[in-house]
Amino acid sequence: MGFSPYDTYIKEWVPTQSQKGKTALVTGASSGIGFETAKALAALDAHVVLAGIDPEHKFDEAIRKIIAATGCSKDNLEYMHLDLGSQLSIRQFADNWRERKNTDLHILINNAGIPGMPGLTKDGWEMCYGINYIGTTMLTRLLLDYMTPVKKGYQGTGDQISFSGNSKLRSDLQTESEKLATNDLELEPARIVFVSSSAHKFTLGLSFDEKYLTSPGSGFFSLRYGESKLAIVMFAQQLAKRLEAALASPVRKTKIDKSNITSGPLAGPIHVYTVHPGTTNSPFWSAFPDFFKNYIINKLSQTPEVGARTSLYCATEPKIAYQTGLYYEDCKVSSPSFWANDAEKANLLWKNTCAWTATPESLF
Ligand SMILES: NC(=O)c1ccc[n+]([C@@H]2O[C@H](COP(=O)([O-])OP(=O)(O)OC[C@H]3O[C@@H](n4cnc5c(N)ncnc54)[C@H](OP(=O)(O)O)[C@@H]3O)[C@@H](O)[C@H]2O)c1
Repeated sequence: MGFSPYDTYIKEWVPTQSQKGKTALVTGASSGIGFETAKALAALDAHVVLAGIDPEHKFDEAIRKIIAATGCSKDNLEYMHLDLGSQLSIRQFADNWRERKNTDLHILINNAGIPGMPGLTKDGWEMCYGINYIGTTMLTRLLLDYMTPVKKGYQGTGDQISFSGNSKLRSDLQTESEKLATNDLELEPARIVFVSSSAHKFTLGLSFDEKYLTSPGSGFFSLRYGESKLAIVMFAQQLAKRLEAALASPVRKTKIDKSNITSGPLAGPIHVYTVHPGTTNSPFWSAFPDFFKNYIINKLSQTPEVGARTSLYCATEPKIAYQTGLYYEDCKVSSPSFWANDAEKANLLWKNTCAWTATPESLF
């Protein structure tokens, strides 16, 4: 799972960019990396929605701690119940979001996740696949329509469009859709961050066998955790590509001419980032065997505060606002596993995931 706590850059980069006026949603925000992510976003003045499966009193306590640490207003923090192991709960969450006074969502941090454990989710998926992958991607699809770029204060360099490692200079842009994309650079993109893991590299690739995906895994050291995180990496790349295609689509211009679109895939850039947070001493490891916790995790891992840095970097750093579809470790672009380069499998994964989560294949 990547032992990188001694990287100096990650210790040097700290979140400083004001997020005032933005709404951020952090899943699994009652503990560990998610709590520290929510805390830092609150310190940056974002309105933060903490979501998760824990009982309300645990979130009340998390909110109290964030207020004590940051001095932010209680009005800037909210709790919403979410069980990523239940499609019913995820749909309920999306319905509740639709009922909000202000539905705009500027930052979505898909942080919640579990290590390998035996059993099945309420919907009958293997635990890791069901919570870490199916639940997370379903939530993302249902909230996509609310993702909103901000129409001011773009602070990136603006001279480069970078997609999955391929860059273009603005002066090279020629077609109408490329020009539309150039205008989009004047917007501050909405950002979706997926918290994956370097464990996605320790797999034998993706399986599409539903019998396997709905049978219980064997626990901590099984391949199931890595497989769920590999699926996240590949889904995130697909989502980034499809969001780029939405912006360049001729349908977009027609729709924009007809109505004022302010959120969702056609409104402007929604950028996607995948991160490995680094090995972090958090409740994630609580059910692991004692020898593993005492001799490896306690000695070698970083604090949850440092574990939150790469998520925060991807969610707030102006320098990378123009990037999408890339994988980060230690606040730097990194290479995901070679398994993630299989375009055919990535397309199949998208198609199957849409069927599994009853979401449409097309984004608009
Ligand atoms: N810690 C590491 O070394 C490490 C390394 C690589 C990647 N990661 C990833 O980093 C992310 C954060 O992990 P962490 O270390 O901060 O662990 P953590 O403290 O256990 O946080 C995970 C959060 O997800 C929540 N959660 C679990 N099941 C859920 C469900 N069904 N619906 C909604 N929320 C649920 C947990 O709630 P409960 O408190 O009720 O369980 C908890 O708040 C995870 O995605 C993990 O895979 C961690």
